[in-house]
Amino acid sequence: MKGFNSDQEIETILKEQRLPDGTIWSLPALLPVSDKDYASLRDNDEIVLRDASGPFAVLKVNHKFTIDSISVGRKIFQTDDISHPGFEKFLRNGNHYVSGEITGVLPYSLPFNERTAFPADTRARFKKIGWKTVAAFQTRNIPHRGHEFLHMRALSETDGLFINPVIGKKKCGDFNDDVIIKSYDMLTSLYYPENRVFVSPLNYEMQYAGPREALQHAIMRKNFGATHFIIGRDHAGVGNYYGPFDAQKNCESFDDLGIEILKFNAVSYCKMCSAVTFSGTCGHDSTHKVEFSGTDVRRMISSGAPENHIMVRKEVFNAVRSFSKPFQD
Ligand code: ADX
Repeated sequence: MKGFNSDQEIETILKEQRLPDGTIWSLPALLPVSDKDYASLRDNDEIVLRDASGPFAVLKVNHKFTIDSISVGRKIFQTDDISHPGFEKFLRNGNHYVSGEITGVLPYSLPFNERTAFPADTRARFKKIGWKTVAAFQTRNIPHRGHEFLHMRALSETDGLFINPVIGKKKCGDFNDDVIIKSYDMLTSLYYPENRVFVSPLNYEMQYAGPREALQHAIMRKNFGATHFIIGRDHAGVGNYYGPFDAQKNCESFDDLGIEILKFNAVSYCKMCSAVTFSGTCGHDSTHKVEFSGTDVRRMISSGAPENHIMVRKEVFNAVRSFSKPFQD
């Protein structure tokens, strides 16, 4: 794929989670345009793409088209509830789109530019340091101790761990980029084996599309040179729109994915064991468990009450609390 998807490509993506040539591709990459631009654009026009920080690429328009955004959005997000943040954003983009190829990339600077590794960089890096197996970890959050437990499990199976937190625009109430990066730097520098972990951000806008997005996340990390990809409970989910393990099931249904999914069960803290455990691996029922939920972590950070650091390590908690505004508007 060299640019933005066309209406024909959307069809196979929605139906089979593949491009027409058979490549696995579960979320359409779409370029919405205003009514005015839609009226003036012609096939083969070369246009400059820009965001708030300026121009960044040239696109050769191949085709312009309209979609039924409610019907397409319903298939992507598996809901027609306007409260779903991904679906709501998708509808706001309107019905007019253009497809085409990126023909030039202009000089631009990303947030955390100096920390951002591109797929060619990570592939070369993993080769150079001799990591034959690499587990990639997707996250949009600060690390809680359940995430940490998954990292350690992954490291027991692979040579290295590639922590690839998503930075960029997220839904209101999610953590800001600098908070996520600082909390990971704190955690990894104090607790993780230096030579087996690499943290680099990914500039990407979360869609909260659960199972479909998990598959796209896996493909992206394969491109970064990872051999394994971690998927735990409710990956890329929001609210109760998806089943807790639907993301794992979706990825598992593709034999030709080319990256091994590390499917992990739900993790919680058992007060009887005084330990973080996988669900079902100790003899204590849910009344003794503290669930690791994003909502609870955010509530705890806002209230300033660390609750014995069962959920978040003290140093991570303090790092996050050092920001006056940890959450996105
Ligand atoms: S996500 O939107 O990026 O998936 P988050 O940053 O919370 O959200 O999760 C990162 C990864 O950790 C995902 O694979 C998710 O399934 C997994 N995960 C998060 N919390 C838990 C948990 N309590 N038990 C098992 N897996 C979890």
